[in-house]
Amino acid sequence: MKNRLDGRRIIVFGAATGIGAATVKRLATEGARVCAADINLDGAEATAQAAGGESFAVLCDIADEASVNAATQAAAARLGGLDGAHINAADLRVIMQDSTVLDMDLAVFDRTVAVNLRGHVLCTRAVVPHLVKNKASAIVYTSSGAAHAGEAVRPCYAISKAGINALARHVAAAYGKQGLTANVLAPGFTVTEQMRAQMKADGTDPQQWAALYLTRSAASRLGEPEDHAGVVAMLLSDDGRWISGAIFDVNGGAMMRA
Ligand SMILES: NC(=O)c1ccc[n+]([C@@H]2O[C@H](COP(=O)([O-])OP(=O)(O)OC[C@H]3O[C@@H](n4cnc5c(N)ncnc54)[C@H](O)[C@@H]3O)[C@@H](O)[C@H]2O)c1
Repeated sequence: MKNRLDGRRIIVFGAATGIGAATVKRLATEGARVCAADINLDGAEATAQAAGGESFAVLCDIADEASVNAATQAAAARLGGLDGAHINAADLRVIMQDSTVLDMDLAVFDRTVAVNLRGHVLCTRAVVPHLVKNKASAIVYTSSGAAHAGEAVRPCYAISKAGINALARHVAAAYGKQGLTANVLAPGFTVTEQMRAQMKADGTDPQQWAALYLTRSAASRLGEPEDHAGVVAMLLSDDGRWISGAIFDVNGGAMMRA
């Protein structure tokens, strides 16, 4: 399993921190040559350095078509093509202002959709022409359990993530005959380093907070970025070849009632 991705050429959009950073490291561990693309170039460079192997970073703002195209071209040129993509970036700063459909600030809606959904469309348009040059290739999108949970809050986020699920199914249907699979990782609540730092700054007790969150859920703990990285690696490898158009709820059973 260690070399399951030997020599695979993969771009990860949204790779500076959290789930994307953990994924870059996992892909490199399994033998892939990885481009870490992010609006936070310093963070992407730190990820690539920690991942080792032939990993490298490029600057990319997924809300900007020219930036996405330039980053994809740079990755494909340096890697000699692309076999896979993990489209993972989201603007998680505006989510704090995401309220209800009646109260929402439309600027928050527009920004959320511009990055989380339109950005994923731009990344798809950039990578697919490279991917379909191969007999076998794969895209993994990151959406969220919020896309199908039904929540009284954060409608902008949920709408953007539901759109990703539809996008992935479209890509799976349109390019499947050309050997491209497209699947979705839908994470449940996952504690990233940034969240831990924020909780520390706010004086929030992470254990108390987790206990509250897990009260009515079957999950025994909150997620870690590494819980997702292995699933993405599987979907980008030959182990995932016979899977396409699927949504993976990776949440420790969080949607089961306890
Ligand atoms: N952490 C969770 O609980 C959770 C739950 C469900 C879904 N998700 C999803 O997982 C993905 C990763 O989130 P995370 O929790 O690791 O958070 P994160 O903030 O650590 O990761 C998001 C990454 O996207 C990058 N990014 C933001 N805007 C960008 C832009 N315009 N262009 C390029 N890169 C940009 C950030 O710099 C960062 O590296 C997101 O799509 C998020 O919606 C997270």
